[in-house]
Amino acid sequence: MTQVAQNVMVTGSNRGIGFGLVKELVKMNPPPDHIIATCRNPTGSEGKALQDLATKCPNIHVVQLDVTDHSTVKAAVSVVESHLQGQGLNLLINNAGRNSQAAFLEDVDQQDMLLTYNTNAVGPLLIVKEFLPLLKKAAKEMTTKDSGGNKAVVINISSIIGSIGAGFSALMISVPPLYAYRASKAALNMITAGLAMELKQHGILCALLHPGWVKTAMGSEEAPLTVQTSAEGMLKVIANLKPSSSGAFLDWEGNEVAW
Ligand SMILES: NC(=O)c1ccc[n+]([C@@H]2O[C@H](COP(=O)([O-])OP(=O)(O)OC[C@H]3O[C@@H](n4cnc5c(N)ncnc54)[C@H](OP(=O)(O)O)[C@@H]3O)[C@@H](O)[C@H]2O)c1
Repeated sequence: MTQVAQNVMVTGSNRGIGFGLVKELVKMNPPPDHIIATCRNPTGSEGKALQDLATKCPNIHVVQLDVTDHSTVKAAVSVVESHLQGQGLNLLINNAGRNSQAAFLEDVDQQDMLLTYNTNAVGPLLIVKEFLPLLKKAAKEMTTKDSGGNKAVVINISSIIGSIGAGFSALMISVPPLYAYRASKAALNMITAGLAMELKQHGILCALLHPGWVKTAMGSEEAPLTVQTSAEGMLKVIANLKPSSSGAFLDWEGNEVAW
């Protein structure tokens, strides 16, 4: 099996799907050389499970990053550069996300709308902006090696319920409007389409993945998918992305999701 990517970064990797992705990445054969696992509170109890895993796996580097705090994103770039020692970042997975309890119109609150938009849409965009030099470096390294395949990849974790085309189908009819969450993911989808268009010239592929409905704090115990099934599936989809997948919106099994 080929490496999914030489150097990978996953945001929001202390629990839920992000932690699941890190656990699957270390199990791969061969695993990435460097796994940058970011979380907003690495030294608190929230970061303990990730820190414990990192002590057993020297290729995991835990880095502080709050996706809503631009100064931490900028600081993280320097820390990541020091871990990569001159190499580029081949795969960036913008996974960190927030749900909102505001299900219906009567619950809508300005601050909650803005925080959700900041976390799920603005944050990932600014992370790509700040990490662009490292992504470009990875793309350039691959070009010079002429090894084909994908040079550098940005994956933004979206949700089918942020899809205008699929999120209101008969299957989804029981999902409430969730204005903040769904609108923030729809915005992330448009942002990713823009990134795919703009970064193609640099050999950087950008795509959206819907992880499925997954048993996490956000997905709840009712969800049918385990974190492991979703994470394994998404890494398989990422490993099989073709340059023509630039701008695609796929689920954890590789099926296209309507916009
Ligand atoms: N679970 C599902 O069924 C499902 C379905 C579709 C899409 N998704 C998407 O999948 C992604 C992961 O979701 P999940 O189910 O794993 O959710 P989760 O269990 O609630 O975990 C969310 C993760 O995001 C982090 N996070 C939130 N705000 C952050 C911030 N400002 N800065 C840095 N990290 C932050 C959390 O860190 P803390 O521990 O510090 O809070 C945590 O690590 C999200 O983008 C979500 O929208 C999930």
